[in-house]
Amino acid sequence: MLHLSTDIIANAYSFYVAEQNEATLTRLLRAVSNLLREGADVQIPVSLAAQAEGQLALVTHTTGDGQVFVAAFSSAEAFGTTQSDEYALIARPLVNYFEAVLQMDGIAGIVFNPASPAPFTMHKKMLKELLQQLADHPQKNGINVVRGDITTFDCDAIVNAANSTLLGGGGVDGAIHFAAGQELLEECKTLGGCDTGEAKITYGYKLPSTYVIHTVGPIYDGKVSQRLDLANCYQNSLELAKKYHLHSIAFSAISTGVYGYPLDEAARIALLTCTQWLNANPEYGMEITLVCFNNAVLKSYEEIIEAAKRGELEE
Ligand code: APR
Repeated sequence: MLHLSTDIIANAYSFYVAEQNEATLTRLLRAVSNLLREGADVQIPVSLAAQAEGQLALVTHTTGDGQVFVAAFSSAEAFGTTQSDEYALIARPLVNYFEAVLQMDGIAGIVFNPASPAPFTMHKKMLKELLQQLADHPQKNGINVVRGDITTFDCDAIVNAANSTLLGGGGVDGAIHFAAGQELLEECKTLGGCDTGEAKITYGYKLPSTYVIHTVGPIYDGKVSQRLDLANCYQNSLELAKKYHLHSIAFSAISTGVYGYPLDEAARIALLTCTQWLNANPEYGMEITLVCFNNAVLKSYEEIIEAAKRGELEE
């Protein structure tokens, strides 16, 4: 089990090293794509000798079949294992490095962390596809409401309506744990529970989503203070997603099942809180999906959206 760090390439990469399969590769590419969108840097090793002569000589890595890749490291820590007195690291925006490599003759692509047990190679075709994706689908803020089963959503994070033990339960909590597998519970056991309105993050394991954000809604008793508790579930989940550089998040309808929160008010709080968060983070690019498991929840959200369009959605 991995201790999650906010360096999402290092996170995704360590799961890819542990097991190369379609899911871990998809998650690694999604992490690279998210950092491309954020203009994040990548660590590039350059030759010290060449640098001393005012040149910029990139370190290359030739594979068994003779293909030549330029090297890159997902983090200074990843470089640390191969640190030598011949190279230094320079940080450059990932998008610029991709564009530069595409212009290099005789170079097949980029190899991330070449000295690791599972070097991650990205051929020029993949670099081009990721840059094209960036151009075709600039990340933008948005909210949409859909009917569905949240355990099937292939996004950066799904949000679980958990209880304060974080040790699983029924409802969506049970469905998420069932779909993710035993490792999710093992990681949840390390989190020390969660207070109402708070949010904690784990890896998604066998789920299509990379991460699961667990939040605990209020058990409805009619107190006005519970509106803030429920709003905090959405607010803190979004803040945690931003901290982990995530750009697509799907929420279940927190507290509207076993915890008995009235659907209309819960839907209004969810929509208002998410809209206010997007307005407070206009440049971030977060795609929010509110997932309704049945028509009753879907109808509540749709009625609130209509009320908002008529300007009747009071704070
Ligand atoms: N996908 C999306 N939404 C779902 C799914 C699913 N697979 N399964 C249930 N839901 C919906 C329910 O229809 C409801 O609208 O999730 C919403 C929240 O209902 P609950 O899962 O009952 O969660 P909550 O009301 O917050 O109560 C939390 O229930 O399951 C236990 O361990 C959990 O103790 C905690 C309590």
